[in-house]
Amino acid sequence: MSEQPEKTFIQNIMVKVPIWAVAALGIWFGAGKAGFPIWWQIEFVVFSFYALCFFILLDLPALKPEKGQGTATLRLFVTYGFASILFIGITKNLPQFNPEVELEKLNRPPVNLASLAGPEVIAAGREVFEENKCFNCHKVFWEGNSDRGPNLGTKQIGLYPEDYIKEQILEPRVKQSPGFDDPKSKKAMPTYYGEDLDDDQMAALVAYLKTLRDPEHVPVEGKFGAQWTWWDDQTIVSEGQKVFEGLEPNTEGLNCAVCHGKEGIPLMSGALDFRDANKMDTEKMADRLDGVPLKEWPDALWYKRVTRGVDGTPMAPWGMVFGHLYLWKAEAYAKTFHNPLPPEGRATKYPVPPIPTKEDVERWTKDGLFLDPLL
Ligand code: HEC
Ligand code: HEC
Repeated sequence: MSEQPEKTFIQNIMVKVPIWAVAALGIWFGAGKAGFPIWWQIEFVVFSFYALCFFILLDLPALKPEKGQGTATLRLFVTYGFASILFIGITKNLPQFNPEVELEKLNRPPVNLASLAGPEVIAAGREVFEENKCFNCHKVFWEGNSDRGPNLGTKQIGLYPEDYIKEQILEPRVKQSPGFDDPKSKKAMPTYYGEDLDDDQMAALVAYLKTLRDPEHVPVEGKFGAQWTWWDDQTIVSEGQKVFEGLEPNTEGLNCAVCHGKEGIPLMSGALDFRDANKMDTEKMADRLDGVPLKEWPDALWYKRVTRGVDGTPMAPWGMVFGHLYLWKAEAYAKTFHNPLPPEGRATKYPVPPIPTKEDVERWTKDGLFLDPLL
């Protein structure tokens, strides 16, 4: 070694750099072919670069002997410190490869607007609901742990138009939920969801909320313990009158009064007379509910007959054409022909139905109680 003249820096790197370049290319493409993520490819090439530096270092001119033990130690520490900072800095800024996270990304379908309301989107929306802690304040039927806000299941938030739901999430202070207008509830719902949720998350969340309906019970309003149903809701009943009389712009073309009469006196022979509390269910349907007078009809029968109609009669399946939000309202009004709702409220309110169970919800789906499309 000592006989050989020492190489200049140029001579030193002239062969090594091209060899490294070829090797680095091989590593890059080899790793890519083997399926490593791009950050791993980069890391492998960076490591091969370290090797290059090492070989260059070997052939550098010998250093002069150190002047003293102190400077040598100092240099050692500085080098070590520098290398440590470099290494930590690089590894800290490289994205971490966590196989579980990567696998989950692959398994989870991307939220995509094209398939809005497909089962995957609804499931993704439910995840958004969970991740954003909506359950901390809202129950959804039997699920959730607090009644600070309305139970979005029994309230049947899914009956409302998408724009309404979105607005209630983005600007919860604009319209208070009925029964939640005390100062504490007014300020409870966070106002930051507009920043936290991107468009796709919001679309999925709304798709999920649109499924929250109950085909067997009328919607419920108010705080747990002080709740009421739409049968006893003055606002809903007067909105229902507009629907019934054909004055609601959102249900243009629907007019119950044309057949059932504005005053409840049927204009079409055979149309149900809502004033007669003892009328029985139609005889024209195979699933007739026997022996129960109109005043005691379960909510489910009202909803079924009005959304699905009576076969072979002018009582059409209105639920295939018009929003069920408005049909429930019209039903609430129709009920007042035999059980009027005085401005001060009824002496005995209709009872708040029991909260549906998981089995109930599964049964609704299995028995096809939801219409398709669900308006
Ligand atoms: C800290 C409690 C809290 C959290 C968290 C919360 N909410 Fe609310 N939310 C409320 C309260 C209280 C109300 C009723 C008062 C009002 O209308 O602002 C409400 C009202 C609503 C309404 C309107 C209901 C109606 O009657 O029209 C919707 C929809 C809603 N929340 C959805 C959500 C969603 C979705 C999330 C999660 C992204 C969420 N909330 C998180 C407390 C909360
Ligand atoms: C085109 C005429 C027509 C319109 C519009 C109409 N109905 Fe009817 N409705 C009828 C007739 C006819 C019957 C009786 C069917 C039968 O023969 O049992 C009926 C029956 C009913 C029944 C009783 C079903 C049963 O099981 O006996 C209900 C409830 C009802 N209508 C509600 C409504 C409501 C609410 C609206 C408005 C959303 C509406 N109807 C609009 C004609 C109409």
